[in-house]
Amino acid sequence: MSIGARIEATGAGEIPRVGIGMLGYAFMGKAHSNAFRTLAYMTWPPPLLPELVAIGGRSRDAVEEAARRYGYASAVGDWRELVADPRVDVFDNLSPNNLHAEPSIAAAEAGKHVVCEKPLGRSAAEAFETWQRVRAAGVVHMCAFNYRFVPAVRLAREMLEAGELGEIRHFRAAYLQDWLADPMAPASWRLDADEAGSGALGDLGAHIIDLGRYLVGEIASVGALTRTFVPERPGGRVTVDDAFEAFVEFEGGAVGTLEASRFCLGRKNAMSWEVNGSKGSIRFELERINELSVHTDGARGFETVLVTDPDQPFIQHWWPPGHVIGWEHTFVHELHHFLTAVRDGGSVRPHGADFEDGYRAAEVCDAIARSSASGTRETVTYRS
Ligand SMILES: NC(=O)c1ccc[n+]([C@@H]2O[C@H](COP(=O)([O-])OP(=O)(O)OC[C@H]3O[C@@H](n4cnc5c(N)ncnc54)[C@H](O)[C@@H]3O)[C@@H](O)[C@H]2O)c1
Repeated sequence: MSIGARIEATGAGEIPRVGIGMLGYAFMGKAHSNAFRTLAYMTWPPPLLPELVAIGGRSRDAVEEAARRYGYASAVGDWRELVADPRVDVFDNLSPNNLHAEPSIAAAEAGKHVVCEKPLGRSAAEAFETWQRVRAAGVVHMCAFNYRFVPAVRLAREMLEAGELGEIRHFRAAYLQDWLADPMAPASWRLDADEAGSGALGDLGAHIIDLGRYLVGEIASVGALTRTFVPERPGGRVTVDDAFEAFVEFEGGAVGTLEASRFCLGRKNAMSWEVNGSKGSIRFELERINELSVHTDGARGFETVLVTDPDQPFIQHWWPPGHVIGWEHTFVHELHHFLTAVRDGGSVRPHGADFEDGYRAAEVCDAIARSSASGTRETVTYRS
């Protein structure tokens, strides 16, 4: 079936409708449902008009409540029902990491376009297999690295592409949270290697690895340490890392550091990065999402650029200058970008992350884990 063949124009003006089937209704289910509903009117005219066809999870009562809350026409207790539903054109996979591969592959092989949350797989091998199978199905695919869709991040990418920072020497990124600092915080799927693959590494580290790749380029080698500070918690054993520290070398010659932790008291969702080039530096902090700090050669410090002008990335959808936007808007931009690719029958690249990007980030995660285990620097080898 050709891309978009089942997407039909209906009575809603000239805007074709696209049926959304969502797996998972909790944290990311809420963020993506909000984005589909919001983009339908804030990005007017949207590339396609999302129709919330069905949402799935494990417990029938809870899924039905979610369907009522977010506005889905039906609720299902098994993801296979979403894959079999002819009304579903887009399968949005927001389940725990152990359910990324099989449902995403099945959906693609049933002709659905697929969005899958990060990390694409619990290992590089699983992510590679998922990418290969979904690519072979000929559908549009996106790994949901939403931080590419922060206006300041896109502006940074535009500055880097234009050569405004000169030759890039450093990329330094951290993603710090504190929700596990309390040793009595209970175990959950995120702390179980079978379900999550890894801990802070695949959860938070994957985001900054992807941003490093998006802004600076491919990562060639890593040296790293991972640590599990609290191996036993109420409800079970912790079989993943709580934190990691890594130094990286980029193919283009830049060097950098990456770190992520769930044990940094006072840090809630503190993702930050800095790029240093021969002509200047740029710096970003997620908790100041509307700002990009820019240093140009000869200046005495950093200038704060407010990224809220209508000619800056994504702001045409929103408000007058200075009327700031938030974290949830990244999902609106991301899913708008995805639906544009579905409408046009193209790829989400280069600004969106596709399943190949999801796989490549997983290869770096695996290399970080390998380096910690071996005590040596590891080359990142990408399968072709
Ligand atoms: N892009 C981001 O910023 C971001 C942020 C948080 C999470 N994530 C990713 O999104 C995914 C989901 O994370 P979350 O925070 O929403 O998790 P969550 O625990 O809040 O929600 C998981 C959902 O999956 C459902 N589920 C669990 N097991 C299931 C099963 N066997 N069958 C069907 N449904 C099942 C649960 O009912 C729930 O609705 C993860 O892969 C995570 O890494 C991404």
